[in-house]
Amino acid sequence: MANYGHFDDAHREYVITRPDTPLPWLNYFGQDEFFGMATQTAGGYTFWKDAKLRRLTRYRYNNNPMDNDGRFLYVKQGKSVWNPGWKPTRTKLDAFECRHGLGYSRITGKKDGIEVEQLMFVPPGENLEVWKISVRNKTKKTQKLSLFSYVEFCSFEALNDMTNYQRTYSIGEVEIEGSAIYHKTEYRERRNHYTLFGCTRKIDGYDTSRDAFVGVHHGLHDPKAVMTGKCTNSRAYGWNPVGAQQINLTLKPGQEETFAIVLAYVEQGDLPKFDSPMVMNKTKGREILAKYSDLKVVEAAFDAVKARWESLLSIYQAPKVPNEHLQRMVNTWNQVQCMATFNLSRSASGYETGIGRGMGYRDSNQDILGFVHLLPARARQRILDIASTQLSDGTCFHQYQPLTKKGNADIGGGFNDDPLWLILSTCAYIRETGDLTILNEPCGYADKPGSKDTLLHHIETSIQYTLNNRGPHALPLIGHADWNDCLNLNCHSKEPNESFQTAGDIAGSKAESVMIAGLFLYATRDLVKLYNFMGQAQDASRIQAHYDDMLKTVEEQAWDGAWYTRAFDAQSNPVGSKSCEEGKIYIESQAWCVLGGAGQNNGRAKKALQAVDKYLYTPEHGCALQYPPYSTYHSELGEVSSYPPGYKENAGVFSHNNTWIHIGWTMFGEGEKALEYYLSICPSAKKDHDKYRSEPYVYAQMTASQFSPTPGEGKNSWLTGTGAWSFVVASQSILGVQPDYTGLRIDPCIPKKWKGFSVSRKFRGVTYSIEVTNPKSKSKGVKSLVVDGQKIAGNIIPLSTDGRTAVKVEVTLGA
Ligand code: GLC
Ligand code: GLC
Repeated sequence: MANYGHFDDAHREYVITRPDTPLPWLNYFGQDEFFGMATQTAGGYTFWKDAKLRRLTRYRYNNNPMDNDGRFLYVKQGKSVWNPGWKPTRTKLDAFECRHGLGYSRITGKKDGIEVEQLMFVPPGENLEVWKISVRNKTKKTQKLSLFSYVEFCSFEALNDMTNYQRTYSIGEVEIEGSAIYHKTEYRERRNHYTLFGCTRKIDGYDTSRDAFVGVHHGLHDPKAVMTGKCTNSRAYGWNPVGAQQINLTLKPGQEETFAIVLAYVEQGDLPKFDSPMVMNKTKGREILAKYSDLKVVEAAFDAVKARWESLLSIYQAPKVPNEHLQRMVNTWNQVQCMATFNLSRSASGYETGIGRGMGYRDSNQDILGFVHLLPARARQRILDIASTQLSDGTCFHQYQPLTKKGNADIGGGFNDDPLWLILSTCAYIRETGDLTILNEPCGYADKPGSKDTLLHHIETSIQYTLNNRGPHALPLIGHADWNDCLNLNCHSKEPNESFQTAGDIAGSKAESVMIAGLFLYATRDLVKLYNFMGQAQDASRIQAHYDDMLKTVEEQAWDGAWYTRAFDAQSNPVGSKSCEEGKIYIESQAWCVLGGAGQNNGRAKKALQAVDKYLYTPEHGCALQYPPYSTYHSELGEVSSYPPGYKENAGVFSHNNTWIHIGWTMFGEGEKALEYYLSICPSAKKDHDKYRSEPYVYAQMTASQFSPTPGEGKNSWLTGTGAWSFVVASQSILGVQPDYTGLRIDPCIPKKWKGFSVSRKFRGVTYSIEVTNPKSKSKGVKSLVVDGQKIAGNIIPLSTDGRTAVKVEVTLGA
């Protein structure tokens, strides 16, 4: 088995030691408004806020070689031409290392005694990316070499940029001033922003025309200017503007030269646009470059990136977990993934092109579950933004664009699980913060401009929406789909050019979803607790009655004998039932019925989990989505049957839904099973990277299942709901530290052989140092809870009211 790298837990880094990983292994920079994506070979791109509308550098997806655009440095020394990140030249290096850290990547390449280090990051609060570059002569002789930088500019609107060449080939404009290249395409007309690509050191040449630097018949592996050793000082007029700078260096033995390159998005604001006709006012660009010309500022900015992450991560740390994989995921990488999914939803990754998908309604609500502890104020704003895209009858736009915060009309609504997720995110926010005022925030409905209805109104509307839209079994109507985007029971599509999601008429639809029923149980139970906490007993019992009613319906209509039926199609035939030829059992209805509290008193919940274990689970890969996979296309089921067996929603291992089963096991005190299942999809625990292929530090959306020809192959890493839910599993269900309205609830579910662990949790302004011991080798049940020396009844650490900011908690399991 090839070894591509390892975790450096002390530095919270993943260290890639060979550049030729099975797939590009990606990292993200930035967590405010400016984002960069970089692979271990410096591939990737940069954008401001919205990867579709404000993309700064180009990236050709699905390219071959894969991942061939990025932020490249070339070294030319004598005849030899190489990149410290190996690509694009792929010249063999004497040493290579890429350290993907939190919000930065540090690539170091060495050849013939010359070492080049490229440290890339986005300083907090800034709309720019810094590359700190160090060139070192590790030989005993003086060395002469030329270094070239290279990026290709994107004309901001990425779709147009990659499709509309009859226009884009004529609009490109740049200006050059000293060591700075200004990409100002469309600035003369409606844009009031530009891209700065500046070097903080004197340069010895530049190019801004791709044809001049790379050459029409050359490639990035042998750019003309680098091969000849000389930039041509070209100015781009149309075609493809690029940024390339040449730096000639003479380095004495042991000498090091360090400087920075800055890639910035600059908004001109109220400043005059031009100094003179066709000459841009560059005041802001000059200021940025001057600022970062001081290496101390660069260092301080990098320290700020690290300090910010340390401070965020200090909110939840579990330093002594007996399992190394769970420990590093929960302490570091899982939280990093939660940040990425919160910021980017499903828009820009190695698989999401940044063009097709905005923020998802259901996705963003779920992302909050794993993010809210990090930056609750941002979660609060997000919840209100999301709610504002709901219509007054409860329908939700399935997606919205982050820049405009408006729902995407082309996809529309009618994904009938969408409204309910808002309740989960809102309750999670209030449990974390105690801030009930969010419920009274006016966040009107998308179809009632200017309306001032409150968030609580949205929540009630969401409940009502499910109640109003029910089918023949009194179960919720599914609409275009529920959580499973590919269970399209109303589309009946026979036309290959239409989308399964939007095809088909859902007016008058009869198809019903048991998954939504389970989610409704979960959401209403959450809401009952909230109303009780608010002292609104009448509202609590009103909602409780809906819960009871739906529970009765689920138990009467949806039990299939050994598991819960998944759905009823438009003809009211069961889906995910023993009576089906294929797709007899699905994971989502087991998960949500159990999580919603069905099957608790009649043994069904346990049976449902056992059925998952029997039909869907393998310890190597996790749980497939259903069994058996569909071998043929069923128009009455939609996209779910369109994938080849064992991939995606057709019985692939869809990591996201696995996490709900993990929670299910912890509800039953099955600590061994919970951990075993957790590890089955945990990227850090994957051993054979040639088989798994995806990044070892973040979850992938999907792993090809036991039913596929390529079991164990991970795909679509980073932007998946698995991020948030896995953090919930590890931090709240297994380690059992659960924010609640009245305090921190402690309810771990661990393998019996664990002797204990500790968690440090900042909650409502207090740091709780929690030591859990397990003297009797139990999985679940708190026997005693001692808070600052005082024994407390029950398992909730009450909120401290006496101003203490550090509290010691001793928990003994074994009740
Ligand atoms: C993707 C979608 C998500 C959906 C899931 C299952 O992850 O982003 O909304 O729930 O697929 O279809
Ligand atoms: C979700 C699903 C994917 C499907 C897509 C359609 O992302 O995961 O399988 O193709 O939705 O928009």
